[in-house]
Amino acid sequence: MLAHFWEAMHSLSTMTARKLGEAVDLSHFRRLLDIGGGSGAYDIELCKQYGALRATVFDLPHVAAIAAGKIAEAGLTDRIETAGGSFFEQLPGDHDVHLLSMILHDWDEAKDRALLSRSFEALPSGGAVVISELLVNDEKTGPAPAALMSLNMLIETEGRNYTPAEYSAWLEEAGFRHIETVWFDAPAANGAVIGRKP
Ligand SMILES: C[S@@+](CC[C@H](N)C(=O)[O-])C[C@H]1O[C@@H](n2cnc3c(N)ncnc32)[C@H](O)[C@@H]1O
Repeated sequence: MLAHFWEAMHSLSTMTARKLGEAVDLSHFRRLLDIGGGSGAYDIELCKQYGALRATVFDLPHVAAIAAGKIAEAGLTDRIETAGGSFFEQLPGDHDVHLLSMILHDWDEAKDRALLSRSFEALPSGGAVVISELLVNDEKTGPAPAALMSLNMLIETEGRNYTPAEYSAWLEEAGFRHIETVWFDAPAANGAVIGRKP
């Protein structure tokens, strides 16, 4: 079941990562930390798009092992590494951009705010965090794919799908500035909320 889940997630995430990489300019960053990076689909796709980027997939040890296999298959072991651990305990340092793709919708507001604070602490000045999700609009009227994913999360996890206004407020509280939302069209995300560390 785990293998099936990751094959499905990897395809969806690869398509979504391609769109994210086109919509959000990562050319100024040198090292990406993919927090809860799963199979490494974002790292593989973004390193293909951005030739100078290096990345680390940070996830629970048994998932980081799955990512290591995908990275080897993609021939990118020289640019993408894996690290096993829990994002509720600590985040690896020495990365100037953090990605949270389909992570915050798994958890409640208090855990998400704590994770964003941890991200802020781990980033250098000039670094950024990118939250990629199926965003519910600020009026909470849709769009339908985000609302349906939110229902899924309400039933299966501790979270729900949040709005750009909610993420922006949490980012601001953590210390991030120049917060913006970029919209795109992809299977696993319709936008990204980006915050920069002054
Ligand atoms: C919905 S998946 C998203 C995977 C990937 N970011 C993507 O979009 O393809 C959520 C990920 O969070 C990871 N995760 C859950 N709890 C974690 C923790 N405490 N520390 C690190 N990773 C965790 C899971 O193992 C899983 O890979």
